[in-house]
Amino acid sequence: MSASNGIIVKTKNLTKHFGHIVAVDDLSIEVHKGEAFGFLGPNGSGKSTTMGMILGLIAPTSGSAEVFGLEAQHNLPSILPRVGAVMETPGLYPYLSGRDNLKVFARLSDHISDKRIDEVLDLVEMSSRAKDKFSNYSMGMKQRLAIACALLHNPELIIMDEPTNGLDPAGMKEIRELIIELSKQGKTIFLNSHLLHEVEQVCERVAIIKKGKIVVQGLVKELVKAGDVLQIKVNEPDKAMAILGGQKWISSVNKEGDYILLGVKADKAVDVSALLAKDGIFAAEIKAKENSLEKFFLEQTEEEANA
Ligand SMILES: Nc1ncnc2c1ncn2[C@@H]1O[C@H](COP(=O)(O)OP(=O)(O)OP(=O)(O)O)[C@@H](O)[C@H]1O
Ligand SMILES: [Mg+2]
Repeated sequence: MSASNGIIVKTKNLTKHFGHIVAVDDLSIEVHKGEAFGFLGPNGSGKSTTMGMILGLIAPTSGSAEVFGLEAQHNLPSILPRVGAVMETPGLYPYLSGRDNLKVFARLSDHISDKRIDEVLDLVEMSSRAKDKFSNYSMGMKQRLAIACALLHNPELIIMDEPTNGLDPAGMKEIRELIIELSKQGKTIFLNSHLLHEVEQVCERVAIIKKGKIVVQGLVKELVKAGDVLQIKVNEPDKAMAILGGQKWISSVNKEGDYILLGVKADKAVDVSALLAKDGIFAAEIKAKENSLEKFFLEQTEEEANA
């Protein structure tokens, strides 16, 4: 791995035009070894196109995509044996059983034993249904079998395109748990999703894209921290609200449950408590309010909805 310095996927100014449509626009991202990376964006924002370029299936218009330090499109024989891809609509044989589908895939790679087939069936919790025909599986089972196929050759990098599409909440949870398990095993995960809730629970780091462009990227735990809302809990909330409402440097004062939310930067916490203390009001709690990634995502991408 020294060639890529622990960077498993790297795109540099990656761009794809389909006629006049700019599907991916000057996109630069890095995915590090062992992390679960969420690639988040609304429908049509360029996630699948990016994945296609990373897998060497779509030629970039300009820029580059590297996997394991190798340019993707011209090094597929070296790259693909180390990658497991779960595409949006898995192409499996409907008339074969789950196990036989895995056998067909196993034949495409070297050295995949029947024992390994049992292992992956077990991992995706499909052992008890392995003999049933693929066409008789539920959506969730089909998706789990597609993941089993992608895992057969024990890949280092697993790329998933919307793996929970079409699943009910229980099915989604199963897939999320499976991804978390794979991540714990040290796999590098690249997860395409338009579902924030999913990414928030599974990934350490995300890039949010809109119309093919990165809007923001960073650690989930940092992105969910909103810098500009202080949340305080005091002994006399009504009096505190009256005092705080009269301050020019506080842009808003709202009540939410037991808390007062203040439109002010977190570094003003000391000023807020000093001000209240002058009137004998004491804060039992004072901290920056955490934003949910969903709220953050909507803030970052809402212009698109209004455009
Ligand atoms: N083969 C193609 N020919 C023409 N346009 C395409 C092609 N593939 C994708 N596009 C366009 O590129 C843009 C990005 O599409 P893409 O499928 O990458 O988005 P996505 O983020 O995966 O969306 P979704 O969440 O709906 O899966 C869209 O405008 C789409 O219509
Ligand atoms: Mg897509």
